[in-house]
Amino acid sequence: MGKTKSIKGLVLITGTTSGVGLNTLKPLLRFGWEIIAVNRSNKRALEIAHQSLTDSEIKNIHFIEIDLSDLKDVRNGCNEILKKFKKPINSIICNAAVYKPRLRKPERSPQGFENSMAVNHFGHFLLISLLLENILSSEREIDLNGKTTVFKPRITVLGTVTANYSELGGKIPIPAPADLGDLSGFKNGFLAPTSMANGKKFKPGKAYKDSKLCNMITVQELSKRYSSDKIIINSIYPGCVADTNLFRDTPWLFRLLFPIFQKFITKGYVSQRLAGERVAQVASFEEYAQPAVHWSWGNRQKLGRKAFSQKLSNRIIDSYISKQTYQLTRKLVGLE
Ligand SMILES: NC(=O)c1ccc[n+]([C@@H]2O[C@H](COP(=O)([O-])OP(=O)(O)OC[C@H]3O[C@@H](n4cnc5c(N)ncnc54)[C@H](OP(=O)(O)O)[C@@H]3O)[C@@H](O)[C@H]2O)c1
Repeated sequence: MGKTKSIKGLVLITGTTSGVGLNTLKPLLRFGWEIIAVNRSNKRALEIAHQSLTDSEIKNIHFIEIDLSDLKDVRNGCNEILKKFKKPINSIICNAAVYKPRLRKPERSPQGFENSMAVNHFGHFLLISLLLENILSSEREIDLNGKTTVFKPRITVLGTVTANYSELGGKIPIPAPADLGDLSGFKNGFLAPTSMANGKKFKPGKAYKDSKLCNMITVQELSKRYSSDKIIINSIYPGCVADTNLFRDTPWLFRLLFPIFQKFITKGYVSQRLAGERVAQVASFEEYAQPAVHWSWGNRQKLGRKAFSQKLSNRIIDSYISKQTYQLTRKLVGLE
């Protein structure tokens, strides 16, 4: 009998055209994963991947086109994924995001939702929900880091310090800390004139923070609903990656000074390469397979510092808020 060929595991990541997502590809490939890269343009994602990866690396990436702002697109893309891949997905990384702090009026998604909530939270929420059954069935032996491993399904969501009121960065009052308030924006259907989770006046910077708060709440709520025997769901703050395209809509002076400020004053700066390495490890290494953890390396980077479980604010872990947010989101994305 011939030797059985080892099976590569399958990891799905959103937003690989720049920044953290782009820099997560190389370490994932190095660890031995096959990748589904979800982007709004396959052509652009492939061209950009060619700038840092070899042809043989790119052979292990499958590009799937989904615009996360459009729930219809998310449904079509997930159907395509479920049809196309014979083996289930082992690990999902929710990375893509938009941040538009200078908008005067909210941008609207195709379904009419405020766009940063639509891309960052609703799109990912629906994607996870539609792929959950598939990912839950994925536990099996795969080849990882040259070893045969039984890999427990994993979901990793990019969170951020500005969404966590327990940390100094989460208390910054400009324009306001993340806070979903009484969730009246969700209850009112999030359509115009509603643009904020709390139903109040549009504040674009807060809209981003609120959407990331929803990402982190989703991790906590899903971890309650799905046993850690079956799946590990956590979030990560990779550090302040102050020079990515996330800041493309900030004033040019901010873009110039922010990385310098983070490098030399707060010492919170992390390179895109290191951030990508951290995300790839949290999404696949055994040592991070602990449920409902928000992994962080702190806000002052120190050489050799290990990741720890960051304390989370009540706005993230409060069981009433998280249950309500989860149920209202299910309705808004059309799952109920
Ligand atoms: N940078 C930081 O300091 C920092 C800190 C904490 C957490 N994070 C989180 O890390 C993640 C990555 O951020 P980043 O700094 O790497 O940002 P980035 O360079 O702007 O990358 C964002 C990615 O999301 C994609 N994307 C945007 N809108 C999309 C849509 N409608 N559908 C599909 N993909 C879409 C972008 O694709 P396009 O090229 O098509 O726009 C891009 O690939 C985000 O979740 C962010 O909140 C970042």
